[in-house]
Amino acid sequence: MSAYKAHFRVWRGDVDGGDLKDFHVEVNEGEVVLDIVHRLQATQAPDLAVRWNCKAGKCGSCSAEINGRPRLLCMTRMSVFGRDETVTITPLRAFPVVRDLVTDVSFNYAKAREVPSFVPPADLKPGEYRMRQEDVGRSQEFRKCIECFLCQDTCHVVRDFEQNKEAFAGPRFLMRVAELDMHPLDAAADAGIDRKRGAQEDHGLGYCNITKCCTEVCPEQIKITDNALIPLKERAVDRKYDPLVWLGNKIRRREG
Ligand code: SF4
Ligand code: SF4
Ligand code: FES
Repeated sequence: MSAYKAHFRVWRGDVDGGDLKDFHVEVNEGEVVLDIVHRLQATQAPDLAVRWNCKAGKCGSCSAEINGRPRLLCMTRMSVFGRDETVTITPLRAFPVVRDLVTDVSFNYAKAREVPSFVPPADLKPGEYRMRQEDVGRSQEFRKCIECFLCQDTCHVVRDFEQNKEAFAGPRFLMRVAELDMHPLDAAADAGIDRKRGAQEDHGLGYCNITKCCTEVCPEQIKITDNALIPLKERAVDRKYDPLVWLGNKIRRREG
């Protein structure tokens, strides 16, 4: 394939506002959108801000929106666009802009801190843990997450309703709750932590209406909705209608 010039529209600005700017940039065979952004920096816009690190789809830092769809800049091949197509690159919409293509994703770190971590079983020492391969495989899928936050960006619960951010952890962190809740060695219950109740009351599981948009954009092809969110919803509902849990809650409320 010979080199050609493609039309790019790139959002430039900061927290006070900005605009799409037009550029014509050379594209060569095998290149990805991040290559073009780097060429743009090298030839026409040296102060263009973009976050990236590995250029291999592993660090999760080059997340942005390309033609309105959340994607990794380093894993989006230019060959998926027609030569005449305008390629528009904008920052993640669900998070505040810092500058140009860089957003402030600290919302996600705050949500990560709210999920109680794995509670080791009291009667076992490290090295004595044993798990069935089936259980290992289940959590391994979720462990592929590179924390790119594309799923967080695309989820309409926070993308379209800023006011939901306080109550809703987003798919990545509900998936983390699900992973811990299905972990056979997690002793959270012994420490007084009810992960299912936490998912409902602290992390906003009820806001998710299983549209699967998060799954569609995940670069690691994690089945976030089918394998984490739906099973967590099912377990949370089972817990709610468990007569013993119901009685416990009633007694707790009366004592409170
Ligand atoms: S499935 Fe749930 S978490 Fe995923 S995008 Fe839809 S509403 Fe958001
Ligand atoms: S679950 Fe997928 S889309 Fe979401 S942060 Fe992890 S890798 Fe990114
Ligand atoms: S630069 Fe690391 S995922 Fe794109």
